[in-house]
Parts: sequence; structure tokens; C-alpha cells
Amino acid sequence: MSQAFTETKESLEGFIEQVRAQFPTLLQEFNGKEIVFLDNTNTTMKPQSVIDRVTQFYTFENSNVHRGAYRLSQNATENFEATRAKVANFLSAKTPDEIVFVRGTTEAINLVAATWGEKNIRDGDEILLTELEHHSNIVPWQMLAERKNAIIKVARIHDNGELDLQDFERKLSAKTKLVAVTACSNTLGTFTPIKQLAAMAHKVGAKILIDGAQIVTQKKVNVVDVDADFFAFSAHKIFGPTGVGVLYGKKEILEGMPPYQGGGSMISRVTFAKTTYNDVPTRFEAGTPHVEGVVALKTALDFVEGIGYERISQWEHHLLVTATQRLEKIQGLTIYGNVSDKAPILSFNLDRAHSSDVAQIMDQCGVCVRAGHHCTQPLMDRLGISSSVRASFSVYNNYNDILALEKSILKAKELLL
Ligand code: ALA
Repeated sequence: MSQAFTETKESLEGFIEQVRAQFPTLLQEFNGKEIVFLDNTNTTMKPQSVIDRVTQFYTFENSNVHRGAYRLSQNATENFEATRAKVANFLSAKTPDEIVFVRGTTEAINLVAATWGEKNIRDGDEILLTELEHHSNIVPWQMLAERKNAIIKVARIHDNGELDLQDFERKLSAKTKLVAVTACSNTLGTFTPIKQLAAMAHKVGAKILIDGAQIVTQKKVNVVDVDADFFAFSAHKIFGPTGVGVLYGKKEILEGMPPYQGGGSMISRVTFAKTTYNDVPTRFEAGTPHVEGVVALKTALDFVEGIGYERISQWEHHLLVTATQRLEKIQGLTIYGNVSDKAPILSFNLDRAHSSDVAQIMDQCGVCVRAGHHCTQPLMDRLGISSSVRASFSVYNNYNDILALEKSILKAKELLL
């Protein structure tokens, strides 16, 4: 894994095969066929190192954190906090105190809505979203807006899936208190210019929350350079365990936020008369956390950094371009979203065929894809469809996977059209 990387396609291919060999789930067969996993936007497979880290924790290190007087618990606490430092470094945050562990991107966004939003959003304030958003970056704001009598505004996209920056700017005003935007669409793969959006939001005095669920496996994010106020991602989409996520928040903003859930660990002093709360970030981490998941998130981030974003994007770009070229040749197949710089996500439909029927036949061919609205119903409405089939690639996918994808679509076409 650590050998010098010479940028030729051949050496990259060889390297990727070594990466792929580290994913045991990909090495098994279903119905006598090798699994072709193309649902990486939904969740990624786990490398052996992450699986081993979880096993090691339960075998040798199991203990609660921040609570034990004994060495075992202190070790677990040290490993838990080492992940916080790792994540801070991964995002180029100023301090680990800006990293809050949550269950995933969804909980991170809900946390901000329920704390910062509850305190700062008032009657008539505006929250600006985009048509690209996942339900998890829409519904918490709608719920908040309903409680506060605030207004949700939505920036449009162009037909190719790109964010309409003029419309975004038009919808910003002194009334905008928050911009909540994805850095990468889970349905179309479109990247948004988050640094520019943050500057535009700040110009009108708004805060910006960035849904980083899809970008973290694609590009290095420096939250200070972007000037993000909040940034959220989930471990399971970046080769880590399910049930763990990260909320980054600027320290001065987190410090001004009330607690999220009440319970153990988040307090400073409890009496029946009054409770005072802990400092950030533990103020937001009530109860026993997902200790083994947090510990293994560090291993997952080590894994990504061991490969390097340059290799990941170079390889995934090859896959995206090759797959797009092959799928574009299939008569009756429409691909949604065709900006040049996009994540390796291909959403498509076959004329007259329902996406779930297509995906079912693809599954019979051993190809795993997602079909449906991908938790982006407003985006589906914008595209004038109710659902699509989505193939999404990760660093361990290869050319055979593209051939299998193409073959399975042709099979579906033969049976359905
Ligand atoms: N956000 C996940 C997906 O796109 C669930 O599939």
C-alpha cells in the first residue's frame, strides 16, 4: 500500500487490485456470481483493517469511555479521543474541540437544527437550500421552519444538474440566516462550489452548513479554507462503521449552542434544582457513544489517507468516464446530470421500464445498484421523473464491474422493453 506511486494507468490498475483484495465482502459470490457492488453512494464496503479494528476493540479493549477509573477504560478513552484528533486533522479543523461524534450526517443536521436553529431562527427568517438536497438536509429545516414560522427558499439547478449560482445569489438576502447545502449530490454526483457558497452566505450574514456525506470519499475538504460554519459526514460512507458520524462546527458557534440531548457525560454539575452543562464538544455527546465505531473510524480515515485522494479521484474518474461512454451507447437509456466535474455516480432510466424492475434484473446478474428516489424526491420532481436507477463507484471497482453493469442493463432492456 505504501509503495511509491508512478502515475501510469497500468500501475494504478495494479494498485487498485491490491486495494480491492482488502475488501472481503467483494470476494464472495451470490447465486454463483461474483458480487458487483455499485451502490457505494449508499454505503461503502469495509476493508479488513476496519473489520479487524472493531474485533480488536471487542476482544481486547472493550470498556466505556470518559467514565472508568481503571486502565482499560482510560485506554478506550484515549483511543476514542485519538479519533477526534484524527478527524480534526482530516478536516483541517483548528482544534479537536470542534468535532462532535453523532450517529451520522442525518443526526448532525438534526442536532444543528434543534440547537443552533432553535436559538437563532426567528419568525420570518429564511433558510436557503438547493434542489440537490437529500431529505436529511431538507426535512429538519422544514420542521424547524414550522416551529419558528421561518421560510424555506430553494436555489434552482440547471438542466445538467449544476447549481444555478445566479439563482442562489438572488435568493440570498439579509433575511437569510442559514444556508444548508450539499457538497456533492448523492443522486447526480454534482459537486457544488462550497467555498464560493460560504463566501456568498457570509456576505449577507448567514451561516452555512455543508452536507459532506458524499464529498468525503471524493475530495479533501479543509473546513477552515472553505470557511464552513458546520460540516457533517457519516463514517459508513467512507469505509467506516455504520452508526457513527461527525459534526464539525466552529468552536465559537458550538460554544453558543444549547445542548442537544440531556444525559450522562454532557453535564458539568447536576442538582435537582439546576444542571450546568459540559464544555464543547462533550456537551453534545450525551450517553454512551458508539465507542468501537468511533475507534474504527480512525482506521477508515487512515485507509483513505493511505491510498490518497489523488489516486482515488484519478481512478474513479477513469471509471466514471468509461462507464458513461458505454452506457451512453445504449439506445433508450437516459443519464441524469452531466456536468464535467462530478463524483462517479450514474443515475439513469431505461425508456418505459420502472427503475425497480431494472434493478431487480440487474441484481439477478449479480450487480448491486439502488433504484428509487434516493431520498431526493424534490430533485426527482425537478427532473420530471419519479425514480431512477443509480450506479455509484468506489475506489475498489474495476473495469469488470463496468462490463457487468453494461451487460446487466442490456439484459434488463431485453426483458423489459
Ligand atoms: N444517502 C444514501 C444514498 O444516497 C442513503 O443512497
